Amino acid sequence: MSRGEASGPFRVGDRVQLTGPKGRMHTITLQPGALFHSHKGPIAHDDLIGLPDGSVVANQVGIEYLALRPLLSDFVMSMPRGAAIVYPKDAAQILAQADVFPGATVVEAGVGSGALSLWLLRAIGPQGRLLSFERREEFADVARGNVATFHGEDPANWSITLGDLAQALPEQAPAASVDRVVLDMLAPWECVDAVSTALKPGGVLLCYVATVTQLSRVAEAIRATGWYTDPVANETMVRGWHVQGLAVRPDHRMIAHTGFLLTARRLAPGAELPELKRRPSKTEFSDEDFEAWTPGALGERSVSDKSLRKRVRAADAAARRSREGDGSAAAADHGAAEPDAAQPPARIETVEHDDHAGDAR
Ligand SMILES: C[S@@+](CC[C@H](N)C(=O)[O-])C[C@H]1O[C@@H](n2cnc3c(N)ncnc32)[C@H](O)[C@@H]1O
Repeated sequence: MSRGEASGPFRVGDRVQLTGPKGRMHTITLQPGALFHSHKGPIAHDDLIGLPDGSVVANQVGIEYLALRPLLSDFVMSMPRGAAIVYPKDAAQILAQADVFPGATVVEAGVGSGALSLWLLRAIGPQGRLLSFERREEFADVARGNVATFHGEDPANWSITLGDLAQALPEQAPAASVDRVVLDMLAPWECVDAVSTALKPGGVLLCYVATVTQLSRVAEAIRATGWYTDPVANETMVRGWHVQGLAVRPDHRMIAHTGFLLTARRLAPGAELPELKRRPSKTEFSDEDFEAWTPGALGERSVSDKSLRKRVRAADAAARRSREGDGSAAAADHGAAEPDAAQPPARIETVEHDDHAGDAR
């Protein structure tokens, strides 16, 4: 069993997370005869070895610490980072949406700090295989160190290949040999061809990207191949809650945006996606779209034919009087024609008249 997935009483070599009275955490690796020093006094590792997980121990001046084996989420959030990591909230969704299963053969790129590698290794189990690709050697080194620290060894079912995925993948994975591919990189669209060859029919491709421009570009690149189901995308927001007595409310702070997940499934060779009956895309216009912008649909009342005929007669009469030189009529017409700056602009032109009650302005 991997060191990071141990259970039972604390043993030599286990990592233990000590939480002090103010919530500060320290992680130690248990060694016989060693001491954990803090400014509040030392704790002997020997006092912890043999205790059940979740014990409380006092240091040599009586200050108490809670001792727990760190969870994988604790480990990835505190391990050294080269590149930005996939956060636990996204890792959980990646495992679910890419349907990573025990025994699966999974390709991952890039490796970055190895956070997602750890989640993938856990999900595939010892019978699965994880082939990771990273083009920067120093990041690969950080990831190797983190994975070895968590597992206590280099997992036998894990390899890191140095290089660009698009070039390196064909040498590492025969065609149609991979169950799942997870891409966490700047330009996943550059790798779609290589990945499509490696994936088994029915396999899942999942891309994790940070921006909408990347999301759009990779979705269109996948769609353009014609080799996949229509891509689906989402993001996950997790809002923590403060739950204490009657003070139950959302936390004031949260990690709002991390990235978008996009998934698509590889079709069988030669298969074509059947035309799906869909509502028209918003790049085309339907009658409904036009109706949505008519005055009626916007809630404006229309002018009846009868009312309109009256307005025409009123306008004719005013024009006739104006032509005949009746100054007062002309002045009244100007008053109606020039909008009053204090009034909201009328959507439907109106002429003031006593029987216009109910007409829209
Ligand atoms: C955000 S990091 C990955 C973080 C990682 N998933 C984790 O959870 O720790 C992105 C990594 O992808 C690598 N990368 C980018 N494009 C690549 C490519 N075409 N092939 C291999 N690695 C690539 C970068 O060097 C970088 O280390």
